[in-house]
Amino acid sequence: MDDLIELAREAREASYAPYSEYAVGAALETSDGTLFTGCNIENANYSNSLHAEEVAVGKAVSAGHDEFRKLVVTSGERDAVTPCGMCRQTLAEFCEDDVPVLCDDGEGFVRYTVGELIPNTISPATLGK
Ligand code: THU
Ligand code: ZN
Repeated sequence: MDDLIELAREAREASYAPYSEYAVGAALETSDGTLFTGCNIENANYSNSLHAEEVAVGKAVSAGHDEFRKLVVTSGERDAVTPCGMCRQTLAEFCEDDVPVLCDDGEGFVRYTVGELIPNTISPATLGK
């Protein structure tokens, strides 16, 4: 089993999702091999809820890592969740188009790339950065 998938599944166990009851975990690998995880964190006002990918990205960037080379997102037994539109855009900021995104259902995964999930989006390159 891929270590990053195992990490995402473990991270999902910390999910705080009393409203949707839909637990999500994420794990990412930075370009130097450092690993970060996240889970979704909901809120009674609903709109403050954080997605698992956002939490993992926030932990990585706040620790000084802003280039990623692999991401896993897992929703457990119900389906193989894919990152929502907002999270796809967030990933595009820190990932090349060929970065793999493994979407896991707790038993297996489907492999996408960031470029497949959000083609032709605005990115640092668009702004000449
Ligand atoms: N969620 C994530 O954490 N990541 C996704 O990619 C899709 C959705 C969360 C948000 C909310 O807590 C729950 O899943 C149901 O939408
Ligand atoms: Zn999202």
